[in-house]
Amino acid sequence: MRVSRLKKNAKLKNIAVLIPMREGDGDVLPENIELGNLNSILKDIRSRKDFTGKKGSLLRVPIYDNESVNNLYLIGLGKAENVNSNLVRDSLAWGLRTVGRQHNKKVLLLTGHLKYTGLNKIFGEISELSSYEFDKYKTKPEDYEPFSLEEIILLSSVESDIEHGKVYAKSQIYSRELANEPGCEINPVKLAEIAKKLADEKNLTCEIWDEKKLKSENMGGILAVGSGSENPPRLIHLIYKPRKARKKIIFVGKGITFDSGGLNIKPDNYMLTMKGDKTGACNVLGIMRGVSELKPDIEVHGILSCAENMPSGSAYKPDDIIRIRNGKTVEINNTDAEGRLVLADALSLASELKPDAIIDMATLTGACAVALGKWCAGLFVKDDELAEKILNASEISGERFWRMPHEDEHISESLKSNFADLTNSGQRYGGAIFAALFLSNFVDPKIKYAHMDIAGTDFYEKEYGIYSKGASAFGVRTCLEYIMNL
Ligand code: BES
Ligand code: MN
Ligand code: ZN
Repeated sequence: MRVSRLKKNAKLKNIAVLIPMREGDGDVLPENIELGNLNSILKDIRSRKDFTGKKGSLLRVPIYDNESVNNLYLIGLGKAENVNSNLVRDSLAWGLRTVGRQHNKKVLLLTGHLKYTGLNKIFGEISELSSYEFDKYKTKPEDYEPFSLEEIILLSSVESDIEHGKVYAKSQIYSRELANEPGCEINPVKLAEIAKKLADEKNLTCEIWDEKKLKSENMGGILAVGSGSENPPRLIHLIYKPRKARKKIIFVGKGITFDSGGLNIKPDNYMLTMKGDKTGACNVLGIMRGVSELKPDIEVHGILSCAENMPSGSAYKPDDIIRIRNGKTVEINNTDAEGRLVLADALSLASELKPDAIIDMATLTGACAVALGKWCAGLFVKDDELAEKILNASEISGERFWRMPHEDEHISESLKSNFADLTNSGQRYGGAIFAALFLSNFVDPKIKYAHMDIAGTDFYEKEYGIYSKGASAFGVRTCLEYIMNL
């Protein structure tokens, strides 16, 4: 959606006005623009207490005798002490979605009374995210009106920040579009084609390893997980390389295009939504897209480890012992703990490239979602400096991460196998920590490393804030923010 700045002496006609208000906010109308009788309407609303700014409240006032303003929308932010820029982002996105579904074409956003940092970037983000929906398979429209909004008008704006926010949002939408596609549409081979297309468009280097190459490169994890499917596995490696790079960062994504559990097959309602098990990989593609447009002086790699986890006569089996790229052997005691196996190969490969930091992203464990809920992702990182940088980025992006324990001698003990170097799953308790400890076996300990478990945050059943129904691309903005602040 277009974002523009109101020009001096511009005459407004038939627009909507959207004002986010905290409890107790008084004069919110700017003095220097002509909005007809809006001022007296607002006074009436306040004196009648029709709107008090309560969090989550929304008042729509249709106006019939005002040439410039047709609709006034007030959205409540709640008590001033609880409001921050992240709440403003979510509230405005929801406000815009509402305004957009009520036949409005242009909206004037009045936020001069809100002094929070980063609002311009947020305007850019919501101008794209508020209208996003995954509806390409619907032959009939939704039961609400289609989104009609075409333009957001601001009184003042910093264009570069708005553009910056738009790139974040578009990267996230790109990731959502892919993650939302079902398994019948996207498999590892298809994902590799999509990555190649992105690389061509954005001038990224792209290398794809097919099953033959995976074999000659000793990628035993990806091959084992992909062995049960008719759709062969792929490793995708994208590189953004500026002329003079200050640092080199590698993102690794779990790309299980469908997780049936394999021979340890998932029960029915656990298998539903497992098209989303490729979200980590889709997010890494989104990050690479974003980086190619933001052009930081940082070398950024994206490694996507892609396979379809299916049961069949050729599938890998419980009791199998496989060898990961770095030479370590793993005894399989659950084929549903597949993500860590494909990641193990990719992390070994990433370590060989000697980056300054490796960050992996994966819908890895149901245990993480149980521990933290669907609105906060798990962050596992030993290095305090890297943790702080990621958590700072997360504070700005509004995507919540919680730093989890990265050491536990009892859980470490349970990683041991009788016959191999490691086993791929342990007891139920501490499942997310077990998985994180497992992964750290495949990263060179000299390299700073963070693991993001985004199971749970990967998709939402209902719209909320900047999220639409379906894939969230949670983590994309945090990683882009991390890169841009390095
Ligand atoms: N993809 C799942 C994890 C998952 C669960 C993601 C729910 C999103 C929502 C992963 O491959 C898996 O199956 N994990 C198992 C691990 C277990 C077998 C050790 C799990 O979490 O139950
Ligand atoms: Mn699984
Ligand atoms: Zn999985």
